[in-house]
Amino acid sequence: VQVIHPAPRDAEVDELYAVARPRPARRPWVGVSMIASLDGSTVVDGRSGRLGNPTDAAVFGALRRAADVVIVGAGTARAEHYGPPKQPGLRIGVVTSRGAVDPAADLFASGAGFLVMPEDGPAAPAGIDVVRAGTGRVDLAGALERLGDVVAEAAFVQAEGGAHLNGELLASGCVDELNLTLAPVLVGGDGPRATVGAPSTFERFDLVHLATDDGYLYGRWVRRSL
Ligand SMILES: NC(=O)c1ccc[n+]([C@@H]2O[C@H](COP(=O)([O-])OP(=O)(O)OC[C@H]3O[C@@H](n4cnc5c(N)ncnc54)[C@H](OP(=O)(O)O)[C@@H]3O)[C@@H](O)[C@H]2O)c1
Repeated sequence: VQVIHPAPRDAEVDELYAVARPRPARRPWVGVSMIASLDGSTVVDGRSGRLGNPTDAAVFGALRRAADVVIVGAGTARAEHYGPPKQPGLRIGVVTSRGAVDPAADLFASGAGFLVMPEDGPAAPAGIDVVRAGTGRVDLAGALERLGDVVAEAAFVQAEGGAHLNGELLASGCVDELNLTLAPVLVGGDGPRATVGAPSTFERFDLVHLATDDGYLYGRWVRRSL
């Protein structure tokens, strides 16, 4: 990719994302990863796939290699038919209050999948690990603090959407980093933007890098420390 910011140069995707991330005091560092159209939609026909290109897939892969654990909303796990990750040992936590998952699905049968549920949520299916925090909904800050129950030494959590999980992460003050790809398409419709549902807020982020190829923009922003 061609890096545009901070200084023009050519770079490998992995090098841009395999960077040190400071672990906040009480929980892992959380990076949200999303792709959006020029008109701000994160879906085309109910999924993200048509927005992407090979470099965006490489960004996604690089972030997964950098991550110690992945979390994803139940809606995305369903819509995108989440399976086990390519990376051996990487675990994927599905955030859900209802726990409506198929324990026979490859994600769980492989042992990679686990659940992130409220304390008073339904019992997890036999053999599936669960991290619990909050009542009614998952208290995401609390759940992130307890990830050690299933993943030792998690320093960087890659949050892969969707918009509702992102909104809840934002509301919990848990978005440290945003990796956003802007796809050069207008898609219309009323698809969700990168966050949905959070109360109005105004969190300032600093642009760490902006790269381009194929008309796409690949940005990495880190929350400005107070
Ligand atoms: N463009 C992109 O980069 C991108 C990335 C990811 C997804 N997507 C697309 O986005 C769509 C899905 O997004 P979405 O916003 O509808 O769904 P989502 O955020 O993936 O999942 C929402 C679900 O997550 C669970 N959840 C989230 N926060 C929770 C909390 N604090 N406590 C308990 N449960 C919580 C709930 O599950 P329960 O209902 O089970 O309680 C909720 O219904 C799909 O079309 C997908 O293809 C696009």
